[in-house]
Amino acid sequence: MKKIFSILIIGAFLALSVSAFSADGKTLFKRCSACHGKDGSKKALGVSAPLKGEKADVLFKKMKGYQDGTYGGKKKAIMKRNVAKLSDEQLKALATYIATL
Ligand code: HEC
Repeated sequence: MKKIFSILIIGAFLALSVSAFSADGKTLFKRCSACHGKDGSKKALGVSAPLKGEKADVLFKKMKGYQDGTYGGKKKAIMKRNVAKLSDEQLKALATYIATL
């Protein structure tokens, strides 16, 4: 009984944090959609891979890579500026939201 109860609690917590993340991610993505498209399907400035269809963990790693300079193409400086001030939590929220597009 105790076990079932804790599973329920954990489940409720996960559901809550996922919905909080996606709301936050959606708001954060408003800044990004000018270049990446509302549904993430545009090639930003004609060079990026579309974000739509990419998995959350891949997106997160790419954004971290722009932050620390380990990922990117010719126009990576633009993305570095876009993610520079975002926390890991915000990047995760964005990645989680983009993966639902
Ligand atoms: C001013 C236009 C612009 C804005 C705004 C912008 N991006 Fe980008 N983004 C780009 C460009 C250009 C690239 C490709 C850069 C490169 O690596 O050469 C890119 C690449 C990316 C990639 C990697 C895609 C790939 O090619 O692998 C991700 C992920 C990404 N952007 C996420 C975001 C997120 C999240 C935001 C909002 C916080 C954002 N971008 C805002 C222009 C923009």
